[in-house]
Amino acid sequence: MDLPQHIAIIMDGNGRWSKDRAKPRHFGHKAGLETLKTIIEVAAKRGVGYLTVFAFGIENWLRPTDEVNYLMGLFLTALRRDIGRLHQNGIRVQFIGNKQQVHADLSIPMEEAESLTQHNTKMTLIVAFNYSGRWDLQQACQHLAQKVAANELTPAEITDSIISQHLSTAAWPDPDLFIRTSGEQRLSNFLLWQLSYAELYFTNKHWPDFDETELDKAIAFYASRERRFGKISEQIGSEDA
Ligand code: FPP
Repeated sequence: MDLPQHIAIIMDGNGRWSKDRAKPRHFGHKAGLETLKTIIEVAAKRGVGYLTVFAFGIENWLRPTDEVNYLMGLFLTALRRDIGRLHQNGIRVQFIGNKQQVHADLSIPMEEAESLTQHNTKMTLIVAFNYSGRWDLQQACQHLAQKVAANELTPAEITDSIISQHLSTAAWPDPDLFIRTSGEQRLSNFLLWQLSYAELYFTNKHWPDFDETELDKAIAFYASRERRFGKISEQIGSEDA
């Protein structure tokens, strides 16, 4: 079966999952973290090379303060408590997002997690934290403009590949499969440039209910798609394709 090399996930629906159970929203986030840990292990077991998850978007700071504080606490707990197991399982952990605005209480454990796991090769987990797709494009444009101003680059040299190389995801291939749980069919300012050719998979399951079987369904959906990258069906797989 054709396996996606890189899967990107918007883990949506923690709040609705809690509401269905008449529980406070943080209950769903806690369950969501457990789901995330399961999905990381299953993805690595299946042979996926890269898994990118949207943990906290720049716009998520607009949520009620107690929810933001809870998510920050959960993230810190995960960084302290769960990183050892990820390391043992050969997972490399990397973070993307606007790191300059992240408090040292979090940015230091984030850097420690990256350096602890830097030589792991089983799978790379990319956690988008304080991230947005437009922020990524903005910072890439700023770096490119600086290079043009310093005469290191001409405007004509700004190609598709040069832009990719200035995004925070420069080190990795673009996602092949995008998954969003909980029924919404939006990109919500996630990997705007990088998802150009991804297969898009939506499920009504709320994130805490997403499990091994659900991941396998998404992978099977991916395997059933014909990726044409702008070409026609007859060209795919033929020698001059
Ligand atoms: C979306 O559910 C989920 C989030 C905003 C956060 C994702 C966080 C986790 C899966 C837990 C792990 C946490 C970290 C920080 C690693 P929602 O709250 O938008 O759900 P709703 O749309 O039903 O309200």
